[in-house]
Amino acid sequence: MSTAKTDETQTDSARAQFSQRFAQRLIGAGTEDAFVVLAQAKALEAQGRDIIHLQIGEPDFDTPSNIIAKAHWALDNHYTHYTASAGLMQVREQYANYVNARYGINYVTADNIVIFPGAKPVVFNSCMALLDPGDEMIIMDPTYPAYAAAAHLFGATIKTVPLSEETGFRFRHEDLEKVVSSKTKLFCLNSPQNPTGGILTDEDFAFVAKLAQERGFYVLSDEIYNRFCYDAPHESILHKIDNLDQFILLDGHSKTYAMTGWRLGFSVTNPELSKKLTLMMTNTASCTAAFTQIAGVEALLGDQSEADEMIAEFKLRRDLIVDGLNSIPGVHCHRPAGAFYVFPNIKEHTTPFGRTSSDVQKVILNDFGVACLPGTSFGPGGEGYLRLSYANSRENIEKAVERLRSAFAKLSGA
Ligand SMILES: Cc1ncc(COP(=O)(O)O)c(C=O)c1O
Repeated sequence: MSTAKTDETQTDSARAQFSQRFAQRLIGAGTEDAFVVLAQAKALEAQGRDIIHLQIGEPDFDTPSNIIAKAHWALDNHYTHYTASAGLMQVREQYANYVNARYGINYVTADNIVIFPGAKPVVFNSCMALLDPGDEMIIMDPTYPAYAAAAHLFGATIKTVPLSEETGFRFRHEDLEKVVSSKTKLFCLNSPQNPTGGILTDEDFAFVAKLAQERGFYVLSDEIYNRFCYDAPHESILHKIDNLDQFILLDGHSKTYAMTGWRLGFSVTNPELSKKLTLMMTNTASCTAAFTQIAGVEALLGDQSEADEMIAEFKLRRDLIVDGLNSIPGVHCHRPAGAFYVFPNIKEHTTPFGRTSSDVQKVILNDFGVACLPGTSFGPGGEGYLRLSYANSRENIEKAVERLRSAFAKLSGA
């Protein structure tokens, strides 16, 4: 009897071990801390705490009404079925028209466009289509964490190029040149940037385009914040190339049209890679929801007034939060030219005290009720910085700045 029990126990534990043995590729898999801190902030709110949310990159506006109306129309008009994996042909044609008009080019057709459920899948699927174990992928440091997370899953090695606050979070061209090797397969470029709000310049794009063509690597140009450029028109690598042989443009609707929950994004690249991306869609999501695709055309080509109003409001908030942060002793905030993030330098509150940005972020959340992210959520280059999203009302931004003033006064022992 006792032997039988032992065997049974062993079987149970073997079963437990088996059910918890996940694929090796998940070991060390990255995450996105914005979602982790969001959950922590919600847990504090559930205990009755008043939290100001500056942690997540999600506009606090409603989706423009013309887009919602178009989605209703699409649902009433049978756009409730599977579509081709790359997206409906008439939708891809319209997206191609939009891209040509926006970037002042004329060579993009439906064959260059794949529609995805969100922009993040463009990152994941591009990495899946291009990267083999041992290949190298270059990212900026700090940067949006989804690039490294995807590359890691496909066994690629990550190389980084540091961004510097002094130049508005650009990288030095010679630093990029240094990390390019014969194994470099992909460079993930992002401008306007998450997390710094910095933008790259015309010269940066020209340099990257030339280097990619000379050294034979792909560039994924993540331009999801392209409409959030406050001080100058948006610059793009698409202005520096005349074909998409080694280039992927990533764009999406989440930010410009406050459509994070709809899940809608798209890639623009050469037809061969587009076919591979389509294959990935066939084998994963099958297709993007039909009615959201129809609404997506309305977003890109329909009335822009609500989106424009939202972006104008973001510019006012940028100035409010930057001025507020710069009025706090020991906090230095570069005025970012794009996106809706600020990346204040808090080194005077970390280095002399032997603290990390993560220590500071925890105090700010738990003791002062402001949810934001440590710069290190975006790479080691983010040490000494915080990332705050100003996708919140001006009133809450003002309140948050006062709470931060108290937090830093306490941290400096004042
Ligand atoms: C730089 C960047 N690219 C892509 C995305 C993904 O957008 P989506 O929500 O459409 O997947 C984000 C979202 O935060 C982002 O910051």
